[in-house]
Amino acid sequence: MNYNEFFKDSIKKLKQNNNYRYFNYIHRIKGKYPICEYTDKNGNTKEITVWCSNDYMAMGQNETVSEAMCETIKNTATGAGGTRNISGSTVYHQELEETIKNWMQKESALVFTSGWVANFTILSTLGEKIPNCIIYSDAMNHNSIIEGIRRSRAEKRIFRHNDVKHLEELIKKDDPNAPKIIVFESIYSMNGNISPIEDIIKVAKKYNALTFVDEVHAVGLYGDNGAGVAESLGLMGEIDIIQGTLGKAVAQVGGFMASSKEITDFVRSFGNGFIFTTSLPPVVAKGATQSILHLKGAKQERTQLQNIAKHIKETFIKKGIPIMDSDSHIVPVMVGNSKKCLDMSNMLIEKHNIYVQSINHPTVAKGTERLRISPSPLHSKDMVEKLSCAIQDAFKNC
Ligand SMILES: Cc1ncc(COP(=O)(O)O)c(C=O)c1O
Repeated sequence: MNYNEFFKDSIKKLKQNNNYRYFNYIHRIKGKYPICEYTDKNGNTKEITVWCSNDYMAMGQNETVSEAMCETIKNTATGAGGTRNISGSTVYHQELEETIKNWMQKESALVFTSGWVANFTILSTLGEKIPNCIIYSDAMNHNSIIEGIRRSRAEKRIFRHNDVKHLEELIKKDDPNAPKIIVFESIYSMNGNISPIEDIIKVAKKYNALTFVDEVHAVGLYGDNGAGVAESLGLMGEIDIIQGTLGKAVAQVGGFMASSKEITDFVRSFGNGFIFTTSLPPVVAKGATQSILHLKGAKQERTQLQNIAKHIKETFIKKGIPIMDSDSHIVPVMVGNSKKCLDMSNMLIEKHNIYVQSINHPTVAKGTERLRISPSPLHSKDMVEKLSCAIQDAFKNC
């Protein structure tokens, strides 16, 4: 085989389909969020407004968090120095897991090196080790969930997105004695809709299935303490496994699960993606702990975020910008064509100093390419006005 030709040819095809990924390198300046610096193709540096960050609560520039991280880096080693089992479990990891456990109102919590790794590890471990397990997975579940289920080699059933009737149809057909796990997200980040958690739990209880919810796009944002959508519905105690990230509203890196002592200990003991990798740097663990402590009390910021998201939706509808039906803070604008989506995103940043990433295949299905707007409590109404005018211009001219 001519390896180089193969690689070159694959990339060429990706470019022809407008699915090649170009990165915009930005400089996030503390105290200025959502304004960042961006250097364009001609080498000119300018300020842009970022509208596509998952730093949903602007915690990336929180003073208490930065101070705690600076102090930690002065006092301890830069890296963890090992896997969790071999010298990489520090007091900072212990403190973080205790904080998450309390936040999620569960018996126990476990931290992973990312949300992706958390999903992959939990699901591959449970699906593989529980004898004859069947996994029921929402059709729109994230890649990390899909890969975890694949790796488990367990039997799987895919139910139509947010369709509890279909879930029940599938589960009814299976052996009532077979162990079962229902896997879903609380907020689907590419269309912004929220899952029918209560109804899914009812089906799970009826058929004796475990429930696993990915709250990656909800932790920090929903519920009285920001623990997620399940908290806002008073359903945390009814869900067996809550998974989340430290990389979005918490503004660090890492992932977690919170569950019963037994399930958490099982994943801790058998999960390869937990066992065989260096643990998070202590400074990140400390930053995450501080960030979570702040987020628990961030009611006002949560209200501000929802208000600005609502304002964006109302403004866009008034101006005829085609937004998708979203129940959450995420506002997806449907474009439906990969080239157009890329062109619009380029035009927004080059001409209007606005950064909205184009979301193309494989993140979303072909023909449903979109611009995904994710505001923060620091985005103003004035910024929304500029954004809406710029998007109108991009629709007209791309
Ligand atoms: C629903 C969902 N789950 C899991 C992840 C992975 O989380 P992380 O970015 O922490 O790896 C993502 C990332 O975007 C996600 O959207």
